[in-house]
Amino acid sequence: MTDSSGTQIIHRFSLVSTAPPDPILGLTEAFLADQRPDKMNLSVGVYKDASGQTPVLDCVKEAERRLLETEKSKGYLPIDGSPEYRQAVQRLIFGEQIDLGRIATLQSPGGTGALRIAASFLASQLPSMRIWASNPTWANHHAVFASEGLPIESYRYLGADKTSLDFDGMIEDLSSNTKPGDAVLLHACCHNPTGIDPTIEQWDSIAQVLADKKLLPLIDFAYQGFGNGLREDSQSISAILRHHDEAVICNSFSKNFGLYGERIGALSFVTADENAAKAVQSQVKRLVRCNYSNPPRHGGAIVATILADDQLTQQWHQELGEMRDRIKRLREQFVSTMQNTGPGHDFSFLLQQRGMFSFSGLNKMQVDQLKADHGIYIVGSGRINVAGMQESKMDFFCDAISQVIAG
Ligand SMILES: Cc1ncc(COP(=O)(O)O)c(C=O)c1O
Repeated sequence: MTDSSGTQIIHRFSLVSTAPPDPILGLTEAFLADQRPDKMNLSVGVYKDASGQTPVLDCVKEAERRLLETEKSKGYLPIDGSPEYRQAVQRLIFGEQIDLGRIATLQSPGGTGALRIAASFLASQLPSMRIWASNPTWANHHAVFASEGLPIESYRYLGADKTSLDFDGMIEDLSSNTKPGDAVLLHACCHNPTGIDPTIEQWDSIAQVLADKKLLPLIDFAYQGFGNGLREDSQSISAILRHHDEAVICNSFSKNFGLYGERIGALSFVTADENAAKAVQSQVKRLVRCNYSNPPRHGGAIVATILADDQLTQQWHQELGEMRDRIKRLREQFVSTMQNTGPGHDFSFLLQQRGMFSFSGLNKMQVDQLKADHGIYIVGSGRINVAGMQESKMDFFCDAISQVIAG
């Protein structure tokens, strides 16, 4: 194309092709456009209460009220975040079990930000490393590590029955296929998308295999407190640290504090000694400086305010416990309602699983049919966000599932 003087006009952006929608967040766009009043969105990993809302926790509201009164500045945080926040994260995740001086912790924009900075650090410092992820894993893991040029391989995780852990397959893959220096991505609890976690004895064996093969544990801790409790859910990390001097932990407060949109998480490197921790901290800061420069203040200020105050911490424990218990009750209600819809509808495996998600076993055709015929949105793999179910809509939901199973 030319303008009136004959000069060629180049529209660079007209050459850009449209990217496919995100497989999970794209479904929410379709859900929002759906006009059916009974529609349900069980795709995206967000907790909803009995009225279908994603609530702001009372402890968060109280922390925000206090911050409103006391906050004196909106100035930049340090590159690695607020020191109070970083210490609070370390105490929450590691407790007393190791010398906190050996840990380099960085405040990150959500768990995804922690994973991306971890990937960037590993790619720049340990470029021959491969990342081993469970099959299946949270879909974004692949994209995050690939974006930093790190090859990502898979180890077996889900059993052939699609309802239990293929522990022997997992151990065999980690022992035989990996090479020393690779990293193994593990979900500390509430595995996404399956809801299937190793037992504590199995964690011990996994930690041992990783140590024997000189593999780096790279732990994604996005659901602390959604499984069996705050302490209980970090037992996997304790097992790893009994066998390893070094580990990387990416944690998120999106779910357990309900701070999704505030983008708050942390990245922690457990190192062999204080000098290593300081060096790692300095390198990670360099990566952040040329990326987003420094983290957003608000989410970290909320978490630090709550964790610095005994009463607010108690309140948080209680509210987190209520979310956890409600998810367990929803699992029970779903299983028993399905049983009542007809023979062969045994979903009792969901009772053994933990956290927000479970694999329903529904195939892609059934998932599409749920959407087309009933306005029920779940991920193509059949993953259901149990935390998105509602007591009042359980009959409708289970009827729809039994209809698509009947074909
Ligand atoms: C396994 C896993 N890791 C990380 C994240 C990212 O969390 P955030 O929303 O804090 O970035 C999620 C969120 O769904 C997740 O399920």
